[in-house]
Amino acid sequence: MSYLLGIDVGTSGTKALVIDSAQDGAVVGSATITYPLFTPKPLWAEQNPEDWWNATVASVKEAISQAGITGKDISGIGLSGQMHGAVFLDESDRVLRPSILWCDQRTAAECEWITQKVGLDRIIELTSNPVLTGFTAGKIIWLRNNEPELYAKVKKVLLPKDYIRLKLTGEYATEVSDASGTSLFNVKKRAWADEMLDAIDIPKEWMPRVYESPEITGRITDEASALTGLAPGTPVVGGGGDNAASAVGNGIVEPGLVFSSVGTSGVVFAYADKPVVDPKLRVHTFCHAVPDKWHVMGVVLSAGGSLRWYRDTFGDAECAVARHTNRDPYEIIADEASAVPTGSEGLIFLPYISGERTPHADPYARGVFFGITLRHTKPYFSRSVLEGVAYALKDSFEIFKEMNIPITQVRATGGGAKSDLWRQIQADVIGMQHVTINVGEGPSYGAALLAGVGTGVYKSVQDACRSTIRLKSATEPNPDDSAVYERYYKVYKSLYQSLKQDFKDVSG
Ligand code: XUL
Repeated sequence: MSYLLGIDVGTSGTKALVIDSAQDGAVVGSATITYPLFTPKPLWAEQNPEDWWNATVASVKEAISQAGITGKDISGIGLSGQMHGAVFLDESDRVLRPSILWCDQRTAAECEWITQKVGLDRIIELTSNPVLTGFTAGKIIWLRNNEPELYAKVKKVLLPKDYIRLKLTGEYATEVSDASGTSLFNVKKRAWADEMLDAIDIPKEWMPRVYESPEITGRITDEASALTGLAPGTPVVGGGGDNAASAVGNGIVEPGLVFSSVGTSGVVFAYADKPVVDPKLRVHTFCHAVPDKWHVMGVVLSAGGSLRWYRDTFGDAECAVARHTNRDPYEIIADEASAVPTGSEGLIFLPYISGERTPHADPYARGVFFGITLRHTKPYFSRSVLEGVAYALKDSFEIFKEMNIPITQVRATGGGAKSDLWRQIQADVIGMQHVTINVGEGPSYGAALLAGVGTGVYKSVQDACRSTIRLKSATEPNPDDSAVYERYYKVYKSLYQSLKQDFKDVSG
């Protein structure tokens, strides 16, 4: 029984991953099932929890079959998932409405109300973070204000991966890293912040029980077994919010290590021994999936999401070429972009297409192409999207420097790290070497490792990472290109300041 299963409930799909701890954690089965994201109104983002569950069942079955094993061979399961989303359940565990997601921006008024009610200083003392539109508390108050008939039926509020846990084990449970992003959790004490819940009148019974990430939270039920092929009684550990789980899957479990990730969102994540808070509140301070450790992270809401939007909106030709040549449309876009000079001759993209979290915490911010001239043909636009996302990631690196957070190594991860060009652009813009590791699975891999820790396969999270993770490649920054980017980064930064009020004016 050397196999471990990680399940990541992501925004574009759910991935199930089987690894073999007897073979240094080699990936032996992997399956991803995608589902839609709904935007019923501007700034809204929703998904159906039932889609997550169907995708979990299908991907788990497929991953097990790919691995050539049966459910009985799996000794532990870990869960990871998109953070912050609210799943509202009634007394029969029925889902009351589509889940309101991390990238949904509808709750500006509710976040303002919570901040007024509790007071910003007290909120920081209690939760270590400001109340942001992406976080869960505002979503609960939004339901109370806007859909009171549904609010009256709520009996539990779960985060996305914890809804899947309920379906798998019948338990209402979460773990410290994901709970940190609710605005209802005392990040320093690693427990629900009763004072927050009381102050805004959210019943504590609605919150699931909290565990440390490697702890066992429940076991596979007969019903879930019949659907997934997993063996009844298989332990399911806490796991982690996708970023903390990805940090484990990237070995970010000691001081100095940082990952820079380009998935749908972009995240710059640093390990921390203590719960350090940015005095300007631009990055988040959350519990790590390593027991009694923390992390700080900056979040770019649309990183890979910007490139996906660009491909879907302007990339018909690239998609057609990709179909004919049996390649990925992103590769075709990157090929075009690679022929464009560094800095796109002053064409600058602001990736704020779903508002922005770090460093602006501004739900009204919008995407911008700035500096268009007659010379700027489509490949320039492609390159400027890649560069704009790298500028947005740089903002977090700059904040970490201000906070004196040590950075000895940057590990590039997420779908964006697979592109040589995008990784080079990131290394040049940040001005630091970016390394990659042997496993590119991030959150699902970290979730599987956490399952190994909780079931005694590994002694500790650090031990799990040491046993499985190796460095693979290094991308060095080119000083000439870094100098060009330094110049444009200043413009990138000042553009937001110039446009801030205009963003608000067009959103009204
Ligand atoms: C983190 C965040 C995103 C989601 C995406 O605060 O909102 O990274 O977790 O999956």
